[in-house]
Amino acid sequence: MTKARVVLITGASSGIGRATATLLAETGHVVYGTSRNPDRHASAWRMIALDVCDDASVAGAVALVLAEQGRIDAVVNNAGLVLSGAIEDTSLDEARREFETNVLGIVRVAKAVLPTMRARRSGVIVNVGSLAGRVGMPFQGLYSASKFAVEGLTEALRQEVAGFGVTVALVAPGDTATGVVANRVRVADASLPTSAYRADFERVVASFERDEQAGSAPEQVARVIAAIVEGRSTAPRHVIGPVGQRILVGIRPFVPTRIFQWGMARYFGLGT
Ligand SMILES: NC(=O)c1ccc[n+]([C@@H]2O[C@H](COP(=O)([O-])OP(=O)(O)OC[C@H]3O[C@@H](n4cnc5c(N)ncnc54)[C@H](OP(=O)(O)O)[C@@H]3O)[C@@H](O)[C@H]2O)c1
Repeated sequence: MTKARVVLITGASSGIGRATATLLAETGHVVYGTSRNPDRHASAWRMIALDVCDDASVAGAVALVLAEQGRIDAVVNNAGLVLSGAIEDTSLDEARREFETNVLGIVRVAKAVLPTMRARRSGVIVNVGSLAGRVGMPFQGLYSASKFAVEGLTEALRQEVAGFGVTVALVAPGDTATGVVANRVRVADASLPTSAYRADFERVVASFERDEQAGSAPEQVARVIAAIVEGRSTAPRHVIGPVGQRILVGIRPFVPTRIFQWGMARYFGLGT
């Protein structure tokens, strides 16, 4: 057993966050998982309130862990929102909510924990991105854009804080069988008869849902995150998930965009 770490995991009520919290608690770490509704989720580890979109909520959760433990060794920025719908159908408020959760949520949590990590010259921050942060997904454009942003944010932050003894890493899962299907938010206008994209949208989202339900187990992602938290893995990026999806993302930089997108359009039955 490695040294027990104090770990804060956002979005631990479900899926990847829950599997990670459970694995780390089982292996002897001090786990604080979070949810916007902590009372609704029973767990063997400590569940506390945290909304990544709310400054006071993030500050309160970090202060609570520091008051109880005196330190935070690792943070897993896992909380995420999957927004689906054609970009044209998406309102700017819906788009803002996506970025507020998936991108600024990470910034908010990082800003709250970095002062204490820098002071101790020690800490690990794991950001959960997605393979959709490497490939623009039709009808999940704002989600993809937010996860592309997480890639850039993670690369930049890693370089900024390395000199303070803080490690930052990205975990990019492919389809994973979690609460994602139940928790997906469809943009309000996407299913209206007036949407020009309705038929394509419904078909592509149904295909996403099939792939997610048949995806990897969240425990597989949890094992990779645990290795980063424990310092057993020091790579900046970790791609996880079904082998076909990992190959697709791996070859992406070497295939001309026109050909890659022709293949995507064939897969989803879209026009070229
Ligand atoms: N499943 C996949 O196929 C897949 C693939 C690639 C990447 N990912 C990424 O993996 C991460 C976890 O996803 P998952 O599939 O495990 O999803 P999930 O089962 O739907 O869980 C989402 C978690 O995020 C939390 N959350 C949502 N909005 C929040 C907010 N404003 N503040 C705090 N917590 C919030 C939820 O907590 P409460 O509702 O309890 O607050 C919940 O615990 C996400 O970043 C997602 O983008 C998932």
